[in-house]
Amino acid sequence: MINIAVFASGNGSNFQAIYEAVKHQRLDANISLVVCDRPGAQVIARAKKVGIPVFSFSAKDYESKSAYEEDLLIKLREHRVQLVVLAGYMRIVGETLLEAFPGGIVNIHPSLLPSFPGKDAVEQAVAAGVKVTGVTVHYVDEGVDTGPIIAQQSVSIREGESIEAVTKRIHEVEHAIYPKILQKVIHRHLSILN
Ligand code: GRF
Repeated sequence: MINIAVFASGNGSNFQAIYEAVKHQRLDANISLVVCDRPGAQVIARAKKVGIPVFSFSAKDYESKSAYEEDLLIKLREHRVQLVVLAGYMRIVGETLLEAFPGGIVNIHPSLLPSFPGKDAVEQAVAAGVKVTGVTVHYVDEGVDTGPIIAQQSVSIREGESIEAVTKRIHEVEHAIYPKILQKVIHRHLSILN
């Protein structure tokens, strides 16, 4: 069994999907901590409701990215976290965390990377008029959505479809694939750690 931390900034529907997969034994992991950089975010209520410890922080209370990441690292070590799972965490991961978790930070992004990295990926895809977008699960490096790709699934954009409708279908795909891909990543990661 591996201890994971889920990092999120907002709603936390991907956290919920991961939690359900763990609960129903589709994912061999223990969510030992949820980390959130927005103290009022819905993900905090979701985690508390199911009894998972939460560490929430405000970046503005720290002098620098390395200062808050040092604090995060203390919490991650306290909770014996072995793999960091980003699920809607809206910050660029800095070298403090990258060095502490080499090859051990995973992210999900709502586009077929390398197309449409960064914020508002669904809006970017709809504005560009592409007929196909999708979801990418990738390892995190120092760039913005640039790390090695683990898996992708396409989602078509229908004629005249709204951003909200595409976003909804992308979320459905995310909730289905993230736990499945994480299961594979975890087994690969455990074989490296052991
Ligand atoms: C997801 O679309 C994810 O791909 C992106 O942020 C969104 C988070 O949604 N990185 P939620 O908070 O999990 O509902």
